[in-house]
Amino acid sequence: MANPRVIRRLASILLGILLAGCVGAPSSLAPASPNARVISHLMWTIFGIAAFVFVVVEGLLLYAALRFRHKGGNDIKQERLPDQIEGNTRLETSWTLAPAVVLAILFVISTIALYSVVSLPDPAAAGNAPTVHVQVIGHQWWWEFRYPDLGIVTANEYHVPVNSVVRLTVESADVIHSYWAPQLGGKIDVIPGHINQTWFKVTEANTYSGQCAEYCGAEHAEMRFTVVAESPEQFQAWVKAQQASPAAMAGEAAAGEQLFMKSACIGCHTINGTNARGQVGPNLTHLASRKNIAGGVLENTPQNLAAWIANPPGVKPGVKMPNLGLTPDQINTIVAYLESLK
Ligand code: CUA
Repeated sequence: MANPRVIRRLASILLGILLAGCVGAPSSLAPASPNARVISHLMWTIFGIAAFVFVVVEGLLLYAALRFRHKGGNDIKQERLPDQIEGNTRLETSWTLAPAVVLAILFVISTIALYSVVSLPDPAAAGNAPTVHVQVIGHQWWWEFRYPDLGIVTANEYHVPVNSVVRLTVESADVIHSYWAPQLGGKIDVIPGHINQTWFKVTEANTYSGQCAEYCGAEHAEMRFTVVAESPEQFQAWVKAQQASPAAMAGEAAAGEQLFMKSACIGCHTINGTNARGQVGPNLTHLASRKNIAGGVLENTPQNLAAWIANPPGVKPGVKMPNLGLTPDQINTIVAYLESLK
């Protein structure tokens, strides 16, 4: 018999290793939006039901194993066999019906939760909160966010005001993805040729991370995004800044702008108010205002941006942005321009 203290210690080490994987990750069990709360409640309800069933079934099993265990002797005599109950209609009906009832209850509560996750809340129930519409477009392997009512297009990071209902319409530019910000609601399929809808409403200014949750090719795991929830005043300031065209460039940034406009970059990227009108890659009009680049993989620093432009497939194998073979000087000049796009 193993020492119980050793077993306890081993169990705590294993549990520690297992839970270490959760540190810093956005958790659906730390919901920040009403529909995310519905999912979290559903999880705990189902966990409770499952735990109850587990305790009852395992309890009966243990009871039977201990109470009716074989006590000494090598011969199992005929009279010690349990009663044979084959064909007992009442027993067979009840152990078929009981799991069916449990599954029916799970089906009903899950379906109710599903609808409240995707259906916009009744305006009165939401305290007549203002609504912000954000169009979410999944690309291999980055996220585009458009505000059709505000004329803003951005990528991999979007801002929302607290206490507003944020309505998301979700679509794809290529393959099937899944939009998922665990603290703000459920996963929503991102399907080519079809528009899905979901929503969220946060009360606390914070930064929430999300990620693609459906395998969509080589860089599926590197398809992340950030939701910045801020006060309505801060949000309005962000909107104004995003709506503005880039300021006139000077010095190295101006040289970088010239180089950029002559390069292949403009075939894929848009920068408002310039000749760059490509539609394949992220809109870079306010690139410098974003915290991350390359689909949320790299922090937005001049060094990282230079490394990214120098060799995109080296950072993200399979990425559609090619290595343009620019010299280090040319790259630094372009970086000076892009990092001026506040
Ligand atoms: Cu997009 Cu996985």
